[in-house]
Amino acid sequence: MLGTRPEMVKMSPVVRELQRRGEEFDLVHTGQHYSFEMDRVFFRDLDLPQPAVNLEVGSGTHGAQTGRMLIGLERTFQARRPDIVLVQGDTNTVLAGALAAAKMGIAVGHVEAGLRSFDRSMPEEVNRVLADHASDLLFAPTEVSARNLRVEGLPPERIFVTGNTIVDAVRQNLRLAMDRENALRALGLSKGRYALATLHRQENVDSPERLASIVHGLEATALRTGLDIIWPMHPRARKGLEAFGIGLPRGIRGVPPLGFLEFLRLESEAALVLTDSGGVQEECCIMGVPCVTLRDSTERPETVDVGANVVVGTEAARIVEGAMVMLAKKGGWSCPLGEEGVAQRIIDICRDWRSKRG
Ligand code: UD1
Ligand code: UDP
Repeated sequence: MLGTRPEMVKMSPVVRELQRRGEEFDLVHTGQHYSFEMDRVFFRDLDLPQPAVNLEVGSGTHGAQTGRMLIGLERTFQARRPDIVLVQGDTNTVLAGALAAAKMGIAVGHVEAGLRSFDRSMPEEVNRVLADHASDLLFAPTEVSARNLRVEGLPPERIFVTGNTIVDAVRQNLRLAMDRENALRALGLSKGRYALATLHRQENVDSPERLASIVHGLEATALRTGLDIIWPMHPRARKGLEAFGIGLPRGIRGVPPLGFLEFLRLESEAALVLTDSGGVQEECCIMGVPCVTLRDSTERPETVDVGANVVVGTEAARIVEGAMVMLAKKGGWSCPLGEEGVAQRIIDICRDWRSKRG
């Protein structure tokens, strides 16, 4: 199952592995993301098969969006009777998928289980906790996430440390991204001479104060470092800027969201990345690019522990300070998110589970 852009990226290695083995599966899309540049461009770049079902739920309040998904997923699961439903991450799609399947007695496998920010005001944290507790197989990317699950009383025999599928996604696509010669040229950028920013979290872009403070911090970072900041803009961020009348200062360039290969290329050659994304924190860590996280917490503490990431909140002065600290780093950290072959491990575990169930 999938519904949003990070799920398309992180489920792509699983889909590829199922295809390679000739396993029978249906790809179900909730339609949570639907704009071309948030959806179809990823199917194209990642060579994903057309979904067997697209529920086309679109946007809405948390309750309305999740409710529409539950209704559609129940019908879909009733018609297709899967042995197992695989969900990935922490979006409303994941909560709906896990809940609909669990209520129907269908097994749930949660890819990227056990991440915790310990901040329940984030919608993603609620989704993660609930999805984990509704799941039968918990694919924890690291020992840290496995421990979080054990501490919450989830049975150890359901928990498997597999690594994060983003490792496979980056390794499988970086070479293709390197063929995208035009990605930098089209934006007038040269390697190592720019910073890349992304922003979309509800708590950041729906708050006029936090959004203004982040933009101020980015402006100050551009001034202090002399780096241009390029900002591929999630539709939610663009809407926030428009609604609050916040303009982009000099040194910060907003562009539409990029396809995965273009984005990966830009990310891999940036001097610095500033973001509130989960997946982007991980990709930077994997590719050796310094990352500044524009949030109060991270559910990816492994990236901070190895020195790849610093969590600075949204105050302008702290953003600049974080940028200077990270720019002084030389990279060279080891990747704490697992070894390539994560999707294979996940499918192997599913197969063993099915053969034991008979
Ligand atoms: C969702 C996830 C978030 C994830 C992010 C990945 C939840 C609660 N949030 O946030 O965890 O990190 O996806 O990007 O599930 N919009 C469009 N086109 C689209 C999709 C959205 O214009 O294709 C706009 C709409 O105005 C919509 C807004 O973005 O209201 C927010 O979309 P939504 O799916 O509710 O949440 P995201 O912020 O994308
Ligand atoms: N991404 C992309 N184009 C962009 C911005 C992000 O392809 O313009 C990719 C990025 O490489 C990562 C994923 O989208 O794989 C992250 O998605 P997002 O930040 O929306 O969600 P999160 O990871 O925070 O849930």
